[in-house]
This record gives sequence, structure tokens and C-alpha cells, in this order.
Amino acid sequence: MKNMILSIRHRALTGLLLLMLCLFLFGELAFGLASRSSAPVQFPANFRWGAATSAHQVEGGNDKNDWYQWEKEGRTKQVSGKAADHYSRFEEDLDLARSINHDSFRLSIEWSRIEPEQGKFSFSEIEHYRKVLVAARERGLKTFVTLHHFTNPLWVARAGGWENPRIRIWFGNFVDHVVPRLGDYVDYWITINEPNVNALTSYVVGVTPPGIKDPRKLAGVLSNFLKAHAVAYRRIHFYFPKAKVGFAHHVRAFTASRWWHPVDHLIRGWIADFWNHQFVRALQTGSIEFSIPFLVDYKEEWSRLKGTLDFIGVNYYTRDFIEFDLSAPQKFLLRPAKTREVSDLGWEIYPQGLYELLLEFGGYGRPLFITENGIADARDSVRARFLCSHLREVAKAIQDGIDVRGYLHWSLIDNFEWIEGFAPRFGFIHVDYPTQKRTIRESGHLFAEIIRSNSLKACQNVLAGGQ
Ligand code: FCB
Repeated sequence: MKNMILSIRHRALTGLLLLMLCLFLFGELAFGLASRSSAPVQFPANFRWGAATSAHQVEGGNDKNDWYQWEKEGRTKQVSGKAADHYSRFEEDLDLARSINHDSFRLSIEWSRIEPEQGKFSFSEIEHYRKVLVAARERGLKTFVTLHHFTNPLWVARAGGWENPRIRIWFGNFVDHVVPRLGDYVDYWITINEPNVNALTSYVVGVTPPGIKDPRKLAGVLSNFLKAHAVAYRRIHFYFPKAKVGFAHHVRAFTASRWWHPVDHLIRGWIADFWNHQFVRALQTGSIEFSIPFLVDYKEEWSRLKGTLDFIGVNYYTRDFIEFDLSAPQKFLLRPAKTREVSDLGWEIYPQGLYELLLEFGGYGRPLFITENGIADARDSVRARFLCSHLREVAKAIQDGIDVRGYLHWSLIDNFEWIEGFAPRFGFIHVDYPTQKRTIRESGHLFAEIIRSNSLKACQNVLAGGQ
């Protein structure tokens, strides 16, 4: 009798569990479909649209920074040389941006042109950038101006670059010279581009100048970037109290390589927190804490960091798979995806990652701008789908209440892709380097249509084919 009751109870319990599982799965499916199909195709009224560039990658003809030196030493696949000759063709490029409906433009100001020797400022170069910014204004483009995009004046590099704590003083002086003179034409300031990438590739992996391979330097360099950002933030606000100042943060999606492996998951969590969040958190709290268990452990209080973000710039491209591996020097490996669609540089196309990261970054309570997102796609055969599928994720995040204010695609024109040289083609506009002729790609026209309608209507066919 007792056994019978137990078995009936057992069966009822199993039935109940199965029912709950079915309801859960059904709910997930229904919710998933609903949230995909009802994703708003319309963007908010003042949403900003445009593309991003950086000085060294497009301007050409500058021999005063550490990248020029790096290229001369044969450390890159090609040298930047005249690049896309944007230094003299900026008006044509801004005309093109306007012709495809952009209302915003991100550029960087080349520190080494303005201060080629310590304390010697070139006012004609500041005047050059004033002309560029005025030209953007005349075309109705809002400007996002980056003060540091990977390159350093040679004198800075020789004096120890971002390892030297004095960098915040040097950078502060540069800011003091340009901001009062250019600030009237700047809508958004981006102090530093991708400090995490810069610190990693320059001081740990050693593939970008100064080419140091020493993981122990990582946290110190990051902390100098934090302080330089805070100095710049405060100086800009001193001259322009209402200025909007942020930095451009390289964020990545991370997934455990083996879903069943707990250590992959554990390390994934550590790396994602370190890479995506620890820098931003320091700017929110004033406490610097860089930590990856067994690898990085750095703590420092610097209260002047606190509250130095008016917005967060999100640069998003791809995701990595994290795999625990005892034979690797850091005990884990970063693996690319094996099966999915990739760019010409082998980067996985993973739009969902952008949605997930926007949700995470919404938690900081600051407006977000996508300050970079794009694909190396020389044939322009994948860019349209890349664009539409990523914008759909942005729209979904906005629908879920995340304050995303704009989208700047990388890039307006093809350009010099650092160690990779000119082969990767990221532009909405193709550049024929020997003649410097510009041609708008199909995807550039599609983006123009998205901007015109402020919606994803033009993406319907593109997205119908998958992704
Ligand atoms: C980003 C850089 C940018 C460009 C793109 C492809 O990490 O900020 O300069 O090289 O990658």
C-alpha cells in the first residue's frame, strides 16, 4: 500500500515536472518569436547616424608618431604612406557622408601633428582640424572627436609612453591646447579609443608599438589610461561645462568553448568581467580594481576617476570562445568560432552579442553610443546583412529600455588597418588607393536608406535571407 502511494506520488511529481518543462519551453519559444517579430523597426527621433574614422588610418603623410616608426621597421604588412589622403580630401569625404544621409561623423585629432615635440604646438595643425570640424558643421554633421586613437607622438613613445605615469600630464597639456580652440565645433568628446586593446596589444601581445610582451605591465598601463581619461574629462569640462565626454570601449562577447566544461565557464566569467567591465567600473566608483584570478591582481584608489563618464562609447565587432588549457601560458585559450560566418579577417559575425552587451552596459545608467561596429568585407557581399542584423539587435535593446543614442559604423572610407595594412576593407565607400577615387558601395546606399527612414524597413529583404 505504502509502495503504491509512493509510486503514484512519484509519477504525479514526474508528470508535474514534465508539464512545467513543457510550459517553460513553450514560453521561451513564444517569447523568443514574439520579441524577434515585434522588434521595433523605428529608431527614436533624435537617434544619431554616421560613421567613424581615425586620423592615422585615413589622413596619410605623417611621420611624427610611433606607428610611422613601427611601419618603417617593417612590423606591419604595409606602410600607411598616403593612406586614403583624407588630410587633403576631407571636404570630398564629408560631402560623400552627407550624400548618403549621415548626420554624424567620428574623427580623431592626431596628437603628433599638433605637438610634434614636447611643448611645441603647431597652431597651423590645430587650424587644419578647425577647418575639418567647420566643414562637418556646414554639412549638418554632428562631430564625435577622439583625442587619442592608438598613436603617440614619437617624443611620448621615447619617454616611455603609457607605462610612464607622467603620460596623464603630457596628455593633459595636449588637451589644454586643443580643447579651448576646437571645442566650439565639437559635439561629443571621446578621450581615448579602446584603452583595453591598446594596453593588451602594445604591452602584452607586443604586436603594436612599443611591442612589449610583459603581462605584468597590463594593469599599470590600464591605470594610466584611466587617469589620463579623468584628467581629460575634467579639463574639457573646465572649458566647456556642458560638454559631453566619454571614451570608446572595445567590448566583446565571450562564450565558454565547451558548454559542459565548468572551468571554461568560470574563466569565461573572469575574462568577460575584466575585459568588458573593470575599466568602466573604475570610472564609476573611483576604485581601480583589475583582476583575473592567478593572472592580474591590482588595486588602487583614485577618487578623481569617479563620475567621469557622460556617455559610454561601445565598439563591438565579434566574440571569442574561452577554453581552459593547462598547456597554454595563461592557462586558457581564445578560440574563434568554427562553424559560423566570418569576415575577411576571420572575425565571427555574432549580432546577438551586441544586444547582450548593450543590456549589460545599460546597467551603468549612462547614455550609450555605438562608436564602432563594422566588417572587413572587400566584396561587400556580407556587409548589408552584418549591418541590418546588428541594427536589429540595437533596436531590440532600445525596445527593452536601454538608452542607446546613436550608431557610428566603422568606417566611412576604406583605410589603413594597422598591422594588417590595406587589405581589410571596412568602408561604406571603396577607395582605389592608386587614384584615390571614392565609390559608394551598395551597403553604403542601404545605410543611407536606413537613415532616411530612421527605421529598418530597408532591411526586410536582407534579413529575410537568414542571420
Ligand atoms: C578597432 C579600432 C579601429 C579599427 C577597427 C577595425 O578596434 O578602434 O581603429 O581598426 O578596430
